[in-house]
Amino acid sequence: MNRVHVDANSPQVDLLEDAAGALRGGQVVAFPTETVYGLGANALDEQAVRRIFEAKGRPSTNPLIVHVAKVEDVHQVVREWPEAAQRLAEAFWPGPLTIVLRKTESVPLAVTAGLETVGVRVPSHPVARALIGLAGVPVAAPSANRYMGVSPTTADHVIKSLAGAVDWVVDAGPTQVGLESTVVSLVGLPRVLRLGMIGWDEIKAVLPELQPFEDDVVEGVAAQSPGLARRHYAPTAKVIIGPAELRGALKSRRVGLMAFRRPEDGGLCRVMSLDPVAYARELYSALHELDEAGCEYIVVEPPPRTQRWGAIWDRLKRATESEG
Ligand code: TXA
Ligand code: MG
Repeated sequence: MNRVHVDANSPQVDLLEDAAGALRGGQVVAFPTETVYGLGANALDEQAVRRIFEAKGRPSTNPLIVHVAKVEDVHQVVREWPEAAQRLAEAFWPGPLTIVLRKTESVPLAVTAGLETVGVRVPSHPVARALIGLAGVPVAAPSANRYMGVSPTTADHVIKSLAGAVDWVVDAGPTQVGLESTVVSLVGLPRVLRLGMIGWDEIKAVLPELQPFEDDVVEGVAAQSPGLARRHYAPTAKVIIGPAELRGALKSRRVGLMAFRRPEDGGLCRVMSLDPVAYARELYSALHELDEAGCEYIVVEPPPRTQRWGAIWDRLKRATESEG
């Protein structure tokens, strides 16, 4: 495995060239986006795309998101560009929004899990844009973690989860947003399939015809957005949402806490921000850290119940689902 360190804001092109060549040539390359690290492969190369599924241990029924360097490049992968897509792109691209549209012939069904639609986005991270631009091909990339695990927000998280399974890791430090992109489908009535830090209300403001968000991840929604398994983004430790005091009641000494204030008992604790933007940035690294510390349980103090915390609640709830 090759690892290259680049500057997050002005990446050194000469350092990215080999990784870009590897991508173009069919290898898998982990790279930072503003949301989480992605595990990328040439989206037009079916064999390369299959290697992503192998590396992650991900079922081939979960579609991948395709990343392009600039808005004009979406036409390589989508056959229609409705006015609603233009409005979303103007408002949110480059950035943490994925738009589901009808795909072109050139996108292999391996990318889309057999669907005639494709999720596409233009990431805002300078390293992602430079790498994809240099590769000169659209890049299919799910989060760079083993299937069902917590998404990576650092290159170390990627290596911990996928060492041996990736050809290249481009390291540009921790990601900014911290949670996966908001996914909006424009096939049929527009709806949010996955919440992210761009909120439902922000999209509604641009797209008045947006359908209500179906909060509960029921089978129907899971079928529309394959991969939205209930248990997703979960660490090995059992996650419980509840008050910090719960720690004392659990019959285990290996309990980590994610709380808004350090408790007086002096136990293992990650102090979380009361600002949702900062909380999102820290969430996965906190889960990774407490998991790695060998916690049997992680008690998460419940954040406020407002819209701005919607995506955080979504990921926390998924993390509490037990396997099976
Ligand atoms: O922020 C992100 O979106 C990150 C970075 C790397 O860009 N990527 C990411 O990919 O989270 P992944 O594979 O972990 O999540 C892709 C999800 C699918 O599980 C599904 O929910 C939705 O995006 N999706 C992708 N293509 C779709 C399609 N054609 N129809 C419906 N949902 C789709
Ligand atoms: Mg993922």
